[in-house]
Amino acid sequence: GAEQPYVTEYTIKGRFLPPHCPVTVCARMHSEDDDLWEAFAHYNTNADGTVNLTKDHSVGGSYLGCEPMGLFWGLQPAPGAREGLRLRKKNVEIPYVVHMSLLEGHVSPGEGQSTELAAVTTERWYTAPGVKRIKIRQNGIVGTLFLPPGPGPFPAMLDLWGMGGALVEYRSALFASRGYASLSIAYIGHKELPGPQNRINSAFDLLRDHRQVCADRVGIIGLSFGVYLALRIATETGAKVRQKVQCLFLNLQLDQYIAPLIVFLQLENLACPLMYIVGEDDLSETLRAADKSQLFTRLSYPGAGHLIEPPYSPNSRISLWSVKPKKLITLWGGHLAPHAAAQEDAWKKILDFMENNLRR
Ligand SMILES: *[C@@H]1O[C@H](CO)[C@@H](O)[C@H](O)[C@H]1NC(C)=O
Repeated sequence: GAEQPYVTEYTIKGRFLPPHCPVTVCARMHSEDDDLWEAFAHYNTNADGTVNLTKDHSVGGSYLGCEPMGLFWGLQPAPGAREGLRLRKKNVEIPYVVHMSLLEGHVSPGEGQSTELAAVTTERWYTAPGVKRIKIRQNGIVGTLFLPPGPGPFPAMLDLWGMGGALVEYRSALFASRGYASLSIAYIGHKELPGPQNRINSAFDLLRDHRQVCADRVGIIGLSFGVYLALRIATETGAKVRQKVQCLFLNLQLDQYIAPLIVFLQLENLACPLMYIVGEDDLSETLRAADKSQLFTRLSYPGAGHLIEPPYSPNSRISLWSVKPKKLITLWGGHLAPHAAAQEDAWKKILDFMENNLRR
């Protein structure tokens, strides 16, 4: 069932320009809520009249230095935008459409005086060709299952997000694009959820028992409250799912809320490898106390914020986070460049970890 991963190398290059002249590259796109996001960077063309973002250095703008994907992770709401925006893909069946342009001189795109020398439109997809998206509404489970192309059976991931409440699909879509079946579920605050019952174990069972899933190759990825749920599945005494969890990836966020809950779990029951990204607080002491240090891999990224998303997602230091009926502004922290580097590194490590634990 090992499908070829769907990877494309991306190079942004300008040519037929005068040598050693200042230019600005600029990316603009509309989110699905129709907010304008933009990034720009200042370059000086090479002696042969080219600029190549894979090797050349930005000297100003949204990012500095050699950052081949800076125009993507450097996207920020355009001046005058609403407060507290966070860029998140909602409909994974359509791409983001990014308008890239090359402007004369070192300018800020909002200033209006610039001459556009070239422009191109590019698309950012979350779903590779042939990936199937299946709506799940059964046994009280509200979810979406993504299946890679082909008959399978595939190794699989259960994708658990935080308390935000929506059905978040983009990470599952990306996993399926790399050959994993992946199930995203909503477990709180979704209008189609039947009640507050615990459906997490049923969701795990549904995934494991799917005819296109390898029953003994299922992992869980959890973020924020999803960390607690993932650990709960993997440690529950007598739970038939426990022995079936092959690996966990945990993105520890809002630790001050999650950490106290974890103390109530029976970590001595943990039997699968676990990789996690730490926030300010650290799970390693707790795991060490439970004599489980051989099972875990810890990733720590100074300068990164709490929201470690798939690579090249722009970081939101602050975003409006609604827990109905309240609206909260949450500070997630992080600085653009180290955060982007952390996301890129963590994503590679997550995929390697899945490869080692679910496919071997
Ligand atoms: C840009 O530079 C990279 C790294 O040197 C190189 O591999 C790539 O081919 C260049 N792209 C183009 C379109 O020339």
